[in-house]
Amino acid sequence: METGNRPIGIFDSGVGGLTVAHAIRQTLPGEQIIYFGDTAHLPYGDKSEEAIRGYSKRIAEFLLGYDAKVVLIACNSASASAYENLLAEYSNKALILDVINPVVEYVAARHFERLGVIGTKRTISSGTYEKKLHEAAPGTVLSSLATPLLVPMIEEGFIFDDISNAIIRTYLSDTRLQKINALILGCTHYPIIRNQISKFFNFNVEVIDSARIVAARLRETLERHNMVNRGEAGEDLFFISDYTEYFEKIARMFFESSINLQKADIWS
Ligand code: DGL
Repeated sequence: METGNRPIGIFDSGVGGLTVAHAIRQTLPGEQIIYFGDTAHLPYGDKSEEAIRGYSKRIAEFLLGYDAKVVLIACNSASASAYENLLAEYSNKALILDVINPVVEYVAARHFERLGVIGTKRTISSGTYEKKLHEAAPGTVLSSLATPLLVPMIEEGFIFDDISNAIIRTYLSDTRLQKINALILGCTHYPIIRNQISKFFNFNVEVIDSARIVAARLRETLERHNMVNRGEAGEDLFFISDYTEYFEKIARMFFESSINLQKADIWS
């Protein structure tokens, strides 16, 4: 595997993974990012495992076409469905990272007694967090809850208002989430409502968002493989598979600065 100034490839079902891209931009300012949001197939949370595997494979090839040194799956639904497949197929070409393993390792090291995780239907029904946490921290009790309305709610800009407060309250009042010490945000859209969630729990529950944990893991991994870019970084590129001005507008909210989205029609 070549080192040097190859870019970091990141993908998600849409623009939610830009929360992870933003954390990486801050943690690794000297790296070039190539981002792909599969807006033509959004949301992944309702798709089958088989469909998500097919999308993820094609997107990984698109990113490898830019000679990405890393393919980072910045989507929990795709991490739960396709990480092992991408690892088996492409780890001779690039480092393959997901958003679930780093978070599981992080919480395992913190020895929480009772944890909750919220995510899309695909992520929760896959049981990936349970399986991995059971291996890494067998004593931890994990309660999982699918919260499928949160992605469309965030994408429609319902944040810090009555509608979002009502939806968040309805989901998080679930008895399964009582008495938890920490809550994993198992979806890369959710950091946008992290403060609202913390407020619901009166700031008594630690709310764990994967973006910073994943960015820190990526830095460690690049350092370990001696793959940090020491030269000039190319310009970041942001692709989506279906373009609307609306995506451009909400992408700013996720990346916390203005970005230029280009359409890459990899499905025709
Ligand atoms: N951001 C994706 C995730 O982390 C969810 C969005 C979707 O359902 O496509 O799972």
